[in-house]
Amino acid sequence: MKKRQELYAGKAKSVYTTDAPDRLILEFRDDTSAFDGKRKEALERKGMVNNVFNAFIMERLEDAGIPTHFDKRLSDTESLVKKMDMIPVECVVRNIAAGGLVKRLGVEEGATLEPPTFELFLKDDERGDPMINESLAETFGWATPEQLGEMKALTFKVNRVLKQLFAEGEMLLVDYKLEFGLYDGRIILGDEFSPDGCRLWDANTREKMDKDRFRQGLGGVIEAYEEVGRRLGVVFPEGQSTP
Ligand code: ATP
Ligand code: TYD
Repeated sequence: MKKRQELYAGKAKSVYTTDAPDRLILEFRDDTSAFDGKRKEALERKGMVNNVFNAFIMERLEDAGIPTHFDKRLSDTESLVKKMDMIPVECVVRNIAAGGLVKRLGVEEGATLEPPTFELFLKDDERGDPMINESLAETFGWATPEQLGEMKALTFKVNRVLKQLFAEGEMLLVDYKLEFGLYDGRIILGDEFSPDGCRLWDANTREKMDKDRFRQGLGGVIEAYEEVGRRLGVVFPEGQSTP
């Protein structure tokens, strides 16, 4: 499958049409951004690491019965996916307090959240992805109550699968963001799951192994992402192959 037209260039990925009208190619770039795009940097190997890691996770989720847009990995930095009508709502689950929750509510970082929390954010870069709720999503037509119910159920199912998977690699799944869309009239998981869109801590030392290393200028960002993969048995290609 070949790339045809660039449909959209996001902050970290570019989306291309293909010869198949219902398929897209996602190209994972090295670009990294934080603080609503105010801080940007290219981190060598990031595109490859996130593409390979995301493919591994999407396959595990499919195995667990979660419908995803992922078809297959095409190269080190590209994957073939089903073309979805994206729902402009981001679903965030938190198992441990960190990031925005700590800032907003003054909860102590590291506190266990039982039961885990579920939050919705509007995908709107210009407004810094504001927090929303079910009522706003329904009123403004971003998602129906039925769709939101399905998204919430799938987001928690992902939590059960991934908490266990990361625990086996001695990591804590602190929080994460998922995006969903419609394909053939059905809600499926889209976008990516990588250390860019979640928080992962070493289970013993609580060392950060995710994008907070970039946000907080801790260094060793890609090395940490690779370590996360290695602990799960992900094999990363040696060099950067050109597609
Ligand atoms: P954010 O970081 O907030 O997700 P972005 O648009 O900058 O925003 P990127 O990951 O760089 O994010 O861009 C990828 C874009 O592709 C996102 O807008 C995402 O919603 C969209 N996308 C992901 N999977 C699919 C799919 N299967 N079909 C259509 N669009 C998709
Ligand atoms: P949160 O703590 O609300 O955001 P931030 O740390 O950026 O202030 O985010 C919770 C988790 O969801 C965290 O792992 C990052 C991820 N996330 C995204 O990747 N993109 C988003 O637009 C949002 C709202 C969250």
